[in-house]
Amino acid sequence: MTLDELRGQALQCRDCALAERRRNVVFGEGNPAAPLVLVGEGPGEQEDQTGRPFVGRAGQLLDRALLDNGLTREHVYICNTVKCRAADWSSGRPRNRAPEESEVSACRRWLLPQLAIIAPQVVLCVGAPSAKNLIRKDFRITAERGKLFKSELARAILATLHPAYILRQQSQTNDGGYGLLVADIAKAWSTAVRLAERQPSGSPAPASQFELEI
Ligand code: URA
Repeated sequence: MTLDELRGQALQCRDCALAERRRNVVFGEGNPAAPLVLVGEGPGEQEDQTGRPFVGRAGQLLDRALLDNGLTREHVYICNTVKCRAADWSSGRPRNRAPEESEVSACRRWLLPQLAIIAPQVVLCVGAPSAKNLIRKDFRITAERGKLFKSELARAILATLHPAYILRQQSQTNDGGYGLLVADIAKAWSTAVRLAERQPSGSPAPASQFELEI
């Protein structure tokens, strides 16, 4: 199956209730041959409207953090834990909410093959829901961000702070964690490039002490 075939199927998905209100399935975009894939949480209003990941305020901050590493969206591939907008409609107007576990589970049907087809060297989970989905259920983002883990999804996986969280924390005297986001992208990218040089994609990951080996 190609990425385009998978996208075609995902655009038709009605496996969970998020399908009812979505305007677009936000499948993902960027370089499908990239050594690094970023996996966010899920589309917000602007992503739902445009069908593109990370195009709102959080996305602009993510673009800036990529650029601070000399990277653009053409160097990486960007997608999300869930492909449709999760929102609470109880007040009549949609308010973004975190995806429920059942929605995250349902969407693994698309995310896991997406990662398998791209076969990146490194996956960078952007935010806690992504890390809990792809690294470990009880992943603690503040304590464990920036650390490399072994994974079946890529040669290495790590997590960073979500730019929406950083925007909420920022003040005149506090970067809200922006420096950590930039540093984690730097680590993810340099690890991906080093691994790509060392071993062609598809061969097995080092057996142990991953953090020490790379
Ligand atoms: N936040 C995410 O996690 N993903 C997007 O695509 C946009 C905002």
